[in-house]
Amino acid sequence: MNIVILLGAPGSGKGTIASRISSENPQLKHVSSGDLLRGAVAKGTEAGKAAKEAMDAGQLVADELIATMIKDVIAETEGDVTMLLDGFPRNVKQAEILEAMGVPLRSVVLVDVPDAAIEDRIAGRRTCPECKAGYHVRALPPKVEGICDKCGAKLVVRKDDNPETVKDRLKVYHAQTEPLIEYYTKKGLLRRIDGDQGPVKNAEAFLAAM
Ligand code: AP5
Repeated sequence: MNIVILLGAPGSGKGTIASRISSENPQLKHVSSGDLLRGAVAKGTEAGKAAKEAMDAGQLVADELIATMIKDVIAETEGDVTMLLDGFPRNVKQAEILEAMGVPLRSVVLVDVPDAAIEDRIAGRRTCPECKAGYHVRALPPKVEGICDKCGAKLVVRKDDNPETVKDRLKVYHAQTEPLIEYYTKKGLLRRIDGDQGPVKNAEAFLAAM
């Protein structure tokens, strides 16, 4: 197994890219830290209870809490797989924890989207609470408004997708996650794609870069 990290601001399209390319290639496994945490919150586990307040406020959850979840997923992953790690690491401390897990890091791909485009992307996002498929009311609409194409569940707006929380999430990204660009550049692992293209071109650019 090896790992490709998707780095990018909230709403930059990391999840859309990873789910698209992994659905077409069984050797790619998409692991989203946000989905793991939302799953824990929905189930009401101890980890979910501990994470909920920070998530609702657009702040990062404790490093050890999310690192333990990622470690568990890595432990249960077998075979010749490239894990697309979406949303982890989010700061230098988490990057160090990941390194200590000992899985080879193939590359880190920055999905580069200006803050100005983020607001519209997040305002139009609709998410399937069942199968986690993501949509956008204009850029990626479902076939039937409000209904997931894949499983038929009713689409929802994520609780942390309100404009005020999005501003806070962007602040957290610039302050805590952006330093990873320099961190991975120094290690010779960073690649960058223009994430301000359509979803299909983004996925192609990502595959070529990773
Ligand atoms: P998380 O779920 O990871 O959220 P995020 O990083 O803020 O990323 P998003 O899911 O918002 O965006 P995305 O880049 O995947 O964009 P998407 O593809 O959906 O984290 C949520 C919270 O959990 C955090 O705030 C934190 O509290 C906690 N957390 C998670 N990981 C953590 C960690 N490691 N440490 C601590 N805390 C952690 O696209 C967005 C929208 O744009 C969609 O509507 C999509 O349809 C549309 N779109 C996508 N691509 C395009 C395109 N090319 N053109 C037009 N529209 C597009």
